[in-house]
This record gives sequence, structure tokens and C-alpha cells, in this order.
Amino acid sequence: MATARSKSDFQQLADRLQHLAQLLTAEWAAADGDELPFESPSWTSLTDELQNTTNQLVAQVISPKSFFRNLQLSHYDLVAFQIALEFHLFDHIPLLGEISLYQLAQRAGFDEDRVGRAMRLLATHGVFKEIQENLFAHTEISALMSKDGSFQSAMAIQMDEMYQAASSTAEAIRKSPLEQKPDITPFSTRFGISIYDFYKKHPDKADRFGSAMGGAAGLDEESMISLRDSYDWGSLGNGKIVDIAGGAGHISKFLAKDFPSLSFVVQDLFPPPSLGPDGKLAESVHFQQHNFFQPQPVTDAQAYFMKHALHNQTDAECIKILRALVPALEKAGRGVPLLLNEGILPAFEDKMSKHQELTLRRGDMCMMVTLSAKERTEQQFRELLKYADPRFKITNVYGTAVTRLIEIHLSPFKEDAANEV
Ligand SMILES: C[S@@+](CC[C@H](N)C(=O)[O-])C[C@H]1O[C@@H](n2cnc3c(N)ncnc32)[C@H](O)[C@@H]1O
Repeated sequence: MATARSKSDFQQLADRLQHLAQLLTAEWAAADGDELPFESPSWTSLTDELQNTTNQLVAQVISPKSFFRNLQLSHYDLVAFQIALEFHLFDHIPLLGEISLYQLAQRAGFDEDRVGRAMRLLATHGVFKEIQENLFAHTEISALMSKDGSFQSAMAIQMDEMYQAASSTAEAIRKSPLEQKPDITPFSTRFGISIYDFYKKHPDKADRFGSAMGGAAGLDEESMISLRDSYDWGSLGNGKIVDIAGGAGHISKFLAKDFPSLSFVVQDLFPPPSLGPDGKLAESVHFQQHNFFQPQPVTDAQAYFMKHALHNQTDAECIKILRALVPALEKAGRGVPLLLNEGILPAFEDKMSKHQELTLRRGDMCMMVTLSAKERTEQQFRELLKYADPRFKITNVYGTAVTRLIEIHLSPFKEDAANEV
């Protein structure tokens, strides 16, 4: 049988791995003390490449049986995470010091045997450590979950409602085998209601979902930095940016720190719980309630921004959202861009690291499971935009991170057409 594996590819990957190890050793040596330089962008890109190269190297030599042996029980890792999140094990362990299994089980409210089994499985991944028999402590990884509620929310929604919904995927496909329908999702198959109705019915889970959006963005720091650095936000002067479907406004708040002369209007269906009585989410960041299927009410912006507002919508819904923006873009004037911050799936001929592609393809499944929606290639974005309004043109795509910035303008602009007559 033909195989894609080759000795020379294996050797090349092994050499690259060795080179990466040298680069990381040098960077670690240059860092302060023994601390790993997690905050350095080059550290993130080197470690991502390390992971990518390691995966490819293993794929060259692993036997098919080993591959499946490793994979077939891997969802039980997620079960252990589900237990840890649901019973707050991350929070019950002191950040400094340790806790006995007996005490941990007392705090968690279930038996020592099952607490210990979940903890020990997670410890094999470097999440928690057993420092003496029946005595547990945080590792750097588990401590992060304890310190940051939004990261914990991002993990918790996946291990809870999304994980449950994912297990009904085959059943949902059987219900509508030839078409992905918005009203037949794995989520609605599992819970009997759409994800929107689910969050209306469970406000505590809706708040956790809002917090999870901030956490998910924070976990993908590379995309946040790329968003900040790859686009010339400074050129917008003291303009107004409309952050459509901006959730709790974490992206606007993040950009506002570095671009204090800009002002931001975060729009979403409902005000986030963090909204103060002054209608502000932060200095220069205001909230406005707005349904993006309705015409855009702000017509004097310098840019209209949307992050992850299309990947969770069907094509028909995206077209409605884009059309609702056209009158405001026309009124705001020539040169005012629509900026879409979305993952872009690689087309067959595109080069992308397998690691980055894996992240996107997992996100794509998440959209299928929850909303009958999808991640898209650049070509699919072009087609969607063209269908919404043939004047929409992609003029640039910024960044190399998982989430990229697509700049779009109306062209020809209305006045161009008028001048031509
Ligand atoms: C995937 S989240 C993205 C949130 C934020 N932009 C981010 O990247 O973290 C999608 C957002 O769209 C909002 N949304 C859904 N339907 C909407 C509608 N009809 N009008 C305005 N916002 C909506 C949701 O409330 C949610 O905040």
C-alpha cells in the first residue's frame, strides 16, 4: 500500500526539531531566572512550531495500531476535566501549598476514590501533581485555571454543554442527512431547544458563556496581538469603531488600552453583566443594544468591526447581517472599512501549519455541533460578500495567527457610480 511516509521527511523533521530545541534553549537562557518566557511572542510561535513538528514526526513513524490505541480512550481525558470543572477542583486546591485527597474530596462533596482517579488522570497531562501519596498541588497549568475565571469559563462551556451536545452529532446528521439545517443541530438534538433558547432558559450559563468568549480570546493571545499589531489602528485617529456582536467588549477594551484616542461602541443583543450604570464597559468603550439583523444605527464610524460574528451563522444569516451594514457603510463614507476578524480555513492549495489547521477544524466542528454554522475559506468569504452586495471587495487580509483580519470596502463606492454618469 502506498504511504506518505518517507525516511528523508523523517530526517528533515528530526533536524528541524533539534534546531527548534536549540532556539528555545537559547531563548530560555536569555530569560530572567528560571521562568519560562511565556509572554514572549517568539516563544509562543517557537513552541507552536515545536508541537507541529513533533506531531508530524510522530505521524511519520507511528504504527496505525498505536495511533488508534492512543486515540480511542482520549475523550476520557475530557471526562476528568469535566469532573474537575464541575466540582471546582481547580479552586479547592490552594495556589500556594498542597491539599490532602481527603480534604479535597470534602470540599468537592464527593468520594475520595473518584476525586483521586480524576486528579491522577489529569496529572498525567501535567494538570495538577501528586507530590506525595494522596497529597496534591497545582502545576503552572492548573494554577492558570484557578487564577482566571474567564479561562475556566472557556473550558467549562466546552466540557459541559458543548461536550454533551457533541455526543449527539451522528443522531442530528441522521435526522437531516442531506442538508445542515439551522433548526436541527446536535445541540438541539441533545437538549431539545436551540442554543439561544438554552441560554435564555439558563441565565447563569449565559453569563458563563459571555465570560468564556473573553477567556477563549485570552487563550488565543497570538490572535489578539496580531489583531492589535497587524492593522494600522492609529491611522483611524480619534475615530469611532463599532464592535458589532462584541459580547462583553473584551476586544474593544483590549484595543482601547493601546489606542486611547479611538472610541468604541460595543453592540450586542443584551447588555453584559459587567455593564456599569453609565453605559460604559471601560473608558472610551460604550455599550449599545443592537440586533445585527436590523439596519446598523451608527453611521459616523471610522470602521465597523466584527469578530467571530459570522462563523456561528449560516450563509443565509451572514448575508442578512452583511446587508444590514450596507446603508451605514455608504453613509459613513468612502474609505470606511468593514473589518472581519475570523479564522480562515486553508483551501486545498494553501500552506498552513497542521497545528493551526487543527485548531480551525476543531472550531469548525464546534460550529456544526452548536449552530449548523461553519468556518470558511477566503474564497467562501468572497462569495458570501459578493452575494450580500456585489460591491463588497476584500482589499487585504492581515496577520498569520489563527484568527485573521479581513479588510473589506464597498467598491465602486456610490459616489463613483454617480460621477460616472
Ligand atoms: C461567538 S460570540 C463572539 C463575541 C465576540 N465578538 C468575541 O469575539 O468574543 C457571538 C456574539 O454574537 C452575539 N449575537 C448573536 N446574535 C446576535 C444578534 N442578532 N445581534 C447582535 N449580536 C448577536 C452573541 O450575543 C455573541 O456575543
